[in-house]
Amino acid sequence: MRIAFVGKGGSGKTTMSALFTRHLVALGRPVLAIDADINQHLGQALGLEDTQAAAVPPLGADVAWIADHLRGTNPLLPSADAVIKTTPPGRGSRLLRLDPGEELHRRFARPAAGAALMATGEFEPEDIGVSCYHSKTGAVELYLNHLIDGQGEYVVVDMTAGADAFASGLFTRFDLVVLVSEPTRRGVGVYRQFRDHADGHRVRLRVLANKLAGQDDVTWLRGELGSALLGAVGQSAWVRAAERGATPDFGELEPHIRRELATVLAELDGLARDWDAYHRDTVDFHLRNARAWGNRSAGADLAGQVDPGFVPGPAALTPVAEAAGVAG
Ligand SMILES: Nc1ncnc2c1ncn2[C@@H]1O[C@H](COP(=O)(O)OP(=O)(O)O)[C@@H](O)[C@H]1O
Ligand SMILES: [Mg+2]
Repeated sequence: MRIAFVGKGGSGKTTMSALFTRHLVALGRPVLAIDADINQHLGQALGLEDTQAAAVPPLGADVAWIADHLRGTNPLLPSADAVIKTTPPGRGSRLLRLDPGEELHRRFARPAAGAALMATGEFEPEDIGVSCYHSKTGAVELYLNHLIDGQGEYVVVDMTAGADAFASGLFTRFDLVVLVSEPTRRGVGVYRQFRDHADGHRVRLRVLANKLAGQDDVTWLRGELGSALLGAVGQSAWVRAAERGATPDFGELEPHIRRELATVLAELDGLARDWDAYHRDTVDFHLRNARAWGNRSAGADLAGQVDPGFVPGPAALTPVAEAAGVAG
């Protein structure tokens, strides 16, 4: 299952991504955390030293390898050059499970706080839009499009700040998108803006309020957001201590924050992915990108990359595809 944390810079996306990751680890669940924010801080928030965080190989630096790996033996994709970030998997594509032994994970994932961590590498706001061929978030989009994850295993993505998150199809790749927001009118405004962007797409958007001052904040937020409000987190001495370089034990995190994390997890665990609908979105975004820039850039009609009748999901993990995934 996949969850993304989005929101304005400074709202606490990275903090909540890291806490949620640690919560999953504490429960013994397998988790891959992906830093897909412009400024890369998830490694530090997961307790890595700066040098260790900098040593996580950036996905964005190796998009061609990723494209080549994922296209596998898909006859509709004769070369890595043909693959754009929205290219959907088809028969012959390499479908990945959340398996640490898989070559892509061996290459890019590094241990952090008991989880696996991958990172896009730092990027510029211009990297996010619709038309970037080798964009860094594009590497994540392509990766997620080929990932067959199931219940009880998790991908946690720390996303780009602001509405930029909606500039690509990436935001439709998650089971749950959590907007981290401060308990202010402005924060609620950001939620409404995000909701409008998500409108017409199959996106489950919920708000996790952060940096609450008191119970009044919760009452007010509940009135403004209704059932979209998933939880509310107050100031955390644990987070402040961790931010200053102490390494407090996760068991010492404030109990009220643990409860909010449990609520987020319960929401995520209550969902089941509809692979057919999910794949329709994959194809829809691909055709849009093809028309907007891909066809021009490739000099070919990229609609031809869609394998009709193919839908990814556990059933598509045939013994052959699985063997290919494990053997790399
Ligand atoms: N609940 C909290 N309690 C204390 N400090 C927090 C809390 N949430 C976030 N912070 C602090 O606020 C700052 C911004 O948080 P961060 O997660 O980096 O935001 P973002 O990733 O959205 O830009 C960081 O210094 C972080 O330690
Ligand atoms: Mg951040």
